[in-house]
Amino acid sequence: MEIISVNGGKQLNGSVTISGAKNAAVAVLPAVVLSDGICRIENLPDISDVSKVLKVLKELGASVKLINKSTVEIDPRPINSYVVSKEMAEGMRASSYFMGALLGRFSRAVVAPPGGCDFGVRPIDQHIKGFEALGADVTFDNGMVNISSTELNGSSVYLDVVSVGATINIMLAAVKVRGLTVIENAAREPHIVDLANFLNSMGANIMGAGTNVIKIRGTSRLEGVTYSIIPDQIEAGTYMVAAAATKGDVLIKNVTPKHLESIIAKLVEAGVEVTEYDEAVRVKMSTRPKKCNVKTLPHPGFPTDMQPQFAAFLALAQGTSIVTEGVWDNRFRYVDQLTMMGANIQVDGKVAVISGVSSLSAAPVKANDLRAGAAMIIAGLVANGVTEIDNIEYIERGYENIVEKLTNLGADIKRVTKPDPVVRKKAL
Ligand code: EPU
Repeated sequence: MEIISVNGGKQLNGSVTISGAKNAAVAVLPAVVLSDGICRIENLPDISDVSKVLKVLKELGASVKLINKSTVEIDPRPINSYVVSKEMAEGMRASSYFMGALLGRFSRAVVAPPGGCDFGVRPIDQHIKGFEALGADVTFDNGMVNISSTELNGSSVYLDVVSVGATINIMLAAVKVRGLTVIENAAREPHIVDLANFLNSMGANIMGAGTNVIKIRGTSRLEGVTYSIIPDQIEAGTYMVAAAATKGDVLIKNVTPKHLESIIAKLVEAGVEVTEYDEAVRVKMSTRPKKCNVKTLPHPGFPTDMQPQFAAFLALAQGTSIVTEGVWDNRFRYVDQLTMMGANIQVDGKVAVISGVSSLSAAPVKANDLRAGAAMIIAGLVANGVTEIDNIEYIERGYENIVEKLTNLGADIKRVTKPDPVVRKKAL
């Protein structure tokens, strides 16, 4: 069993380079299914979610050649299957993107329902609404989502909730379909714009990505291209918060500052000094944070994927902060772990009231999900003593070389192999 062990109390200083965006990569890679030529995708993060998507592409029949750890060349032309089984999907949320991509290519897709981090119910009704609007029939057979159609045509879809996944899936399904598709109340996250830019670079005709109305005029052919994934907004935000929490001074390189506006605004409100450069931000902090209220919302609101990390930071603030989760039903499961480290947080439904304490102390904790794991690392970096974090496979889904990157910044952090716990059978 591998754990991450953090000996807290070291300031982070120096510079860190941000990798390609997980949530853009896991959308762009399935989109390659729609290409009529070879695609070379660069700036991919070296994380387990990306490896899983590449494995699905291979199992569908694509030829996948790793050029180096961040570049892959994919020839989707040999793909001859529209089935993504439960084993292939392996609990990954992004497996759902194969629904839209395979439907767009074969007018048919049979895909295991998506897994991913557990934040309460994660429905796909809006994805299905979109596929049905294009003319597909969607049924659930033997635990699989079965999508078929005799003919797909462009159509208008109004999303009842702003959904990143549904917006991406409808774009994928519609891009090669005859006529005009309009997605209203679309999500506006940077990875939606990145996917549209990738598809447009292949010859697609997508307008309005980044606004809440996206128009897609179907194209019959998409050419193979070379494309570079945008930097990871959430990885950058995580290092910004870690730097501020440890009262450090860190230059975070290879970022798009525009994507970080809401995170920067909240850090500044909490008393952090942030300097923006063209492709970097510098974060400097020398005091305890000031109290600060945060509400997560779809982009350009404060990202839900930064909520646990920010809560760990505010656990040490002067005064009481209120954090409201506006996207997921249940994203405060990690709070128990922070409480074990001495944080004073009361959760009532979607609201957490954080009464700042002057210090945290190390405890054995676990990563309940990817961003909760990042929050545990931030708490461990500032706590007195050695914090041991379990379930680190969640963290590895989304953060490339996090132990190495933090070590380079001066953290005392390591991955440790521990014997698996012995399960004793009760004597009868
Ligand atoms: N929703 C519905 N019906 C749907 C789809 C979504 O009601 O058909 C609801 C969800 O229950 C949720 C809200 O809409 O309350 C937003 O869900 P969304 O579909 O936007 O989330 P997602 O596409 O499943 C992506 C990211 C998540 C991130 C959310 C919100 C990927 C692979 N995942 O999930 O990222 O939290 O958008 O920004 O892009 C992470 O990276 O740690 C992560 C969990």
